[in-house]
Amino acid sequence: MEPSGRTIGPEEEAAVLRVLRSGMLSGVWGTEVPALTEEFAALIGTRYAVACSSGTAAIHLAVAAVDPEPGDEIIVPPISDMGSVTPIIAQNAVPVFADVDPVTGNLDPDAVAALIGPRTRAVLAVHLFGKPAPVARLRELTDRAGIMLIEDCAQAYLAPSRPGGALAGAVGQLGCFSLQQYKHITAGDGGLVTTDDPELALRLRRFADKGWPRETGERAYLSFALNYRMTELVGAVAREQLRKLPAVVERRRGSAAAVAGRLAGLRGLGLPPDDGDHVYWYFPLLVDGLDEPGLERYAAALTAEGVPALGGYLARPLYAEPVLRKPLTYGSSGYPLAGRDYPDGLCPVAEDLVYRRLVVVPWNENFTGTDVDDIAAAVEKVHTALVTS
Ligand SMILES: Cc1ncc(COP(=O)(O)O)c(C=O)c1O
Repeated sequence: MEPSGRTIGPEEEAAVLRVLRSGMLSGVWGTEVPALTEEFAALIGTRYAVACSSGTAAIHLAVAAVDPEPGDEIIVPPISDMGSVTPIIAQNAVPVFADVDPVTGNLDPDAVAALIGPRTRAVLAVHLFGKPAPVARLRELTDRAGIMLIEDCAQAYLAPSRPGGALAGAVGQLGCFSLQQYKHITAGDGGLVTTDDPELALRLRRFADKGWPRETGERAYLSFALNYRMTELVGAVAREQLRKLPAVVERRRGSAAAVAGRLAGLRGLGLPPDDGDHVYWYFPLLVDGLDEPGLERYAAALTAEGVPALGGYLARPLYAEPVLRKPLTYGSSGYPLAGRDYPDGLCPVAEDLVYRRLVVVPWNENFTGTDVDDIAAAVEKVHTALVTS
């Protein structure tokens, strides 16, 4: 059940050799990265995609494209990877945490609406564990406020935002994806940003490429920017992985449905809501009646049964991490967070999930029928022993 191996095979091997033999390893002058961005935009259903070096870089590109004034605010959820948040600080903007839905852990639109103010420039919605966030509603809110919606799709490839609707990454103005080792598809590290807007696409490209206007051929540096470029080796592997993605999602959905079917009806256990839209990066369980040590015991017992599990997913909500709380940013300045408070209790629903209710099982496309049986049996055993007995 070890989630190793992934779907790397002879196709990726040939792709790497193809690039090495061409002698062109840079995505700036090569063919793989441009082809990847075209293929990815077509798959997600946007006009453009821009490649970069990681999911965190993808978020940084998106925030830089929003171009906040120093001290402007971007609303984020407190349950995610820190890569959703630190790029905001890197662009001198302030993350403002909105509370989440008690079942999915995704942003609660009412909590977001209450926090939109004169300095809010964007909302960043994370599609947590592969379950789409309510981005149609969030887009209505952001449009009404005249601000942007960024989607963090690192955990949600090919997830329909509503049945038959646009995919995650094609609803907000900007959609960010990760190719990190344990995502649905991987090239070790890498990132992609989707958009329909040509001006945003240009800003994304320039921010990943030191501000060079490659389209004019001029050696100029037109704006503050870094080097977040994707190499041809990564691009070629990612293209092969992309071809496998629909089958990866189907297999993850199939094993998740089988496990959910086996666990339905266990008292005090909440299963992930699935309207045909969950793509199962992780399989989240909601457990009733535990305290913080109890949640840890539950996850440890599952792990001991051979099902690696994490209590709470995170050690604490992101706003309780030292980088934000102390804050540890630029020298001793605390900029741009000085004077900002991120106290305990800021997002009570998120705290309840992380400290007392949420247990996640990393999911994998290679799970077999035996794995499904083992996972269901382990959860039944642990749940019965620790919750319902
Ligand atoms: C929701 C989310 N956002 C952002 C990131 C950052 O991506 P990366 O690790 O590729 O920088 C990750 C994954 O690590 C993630 O799960």
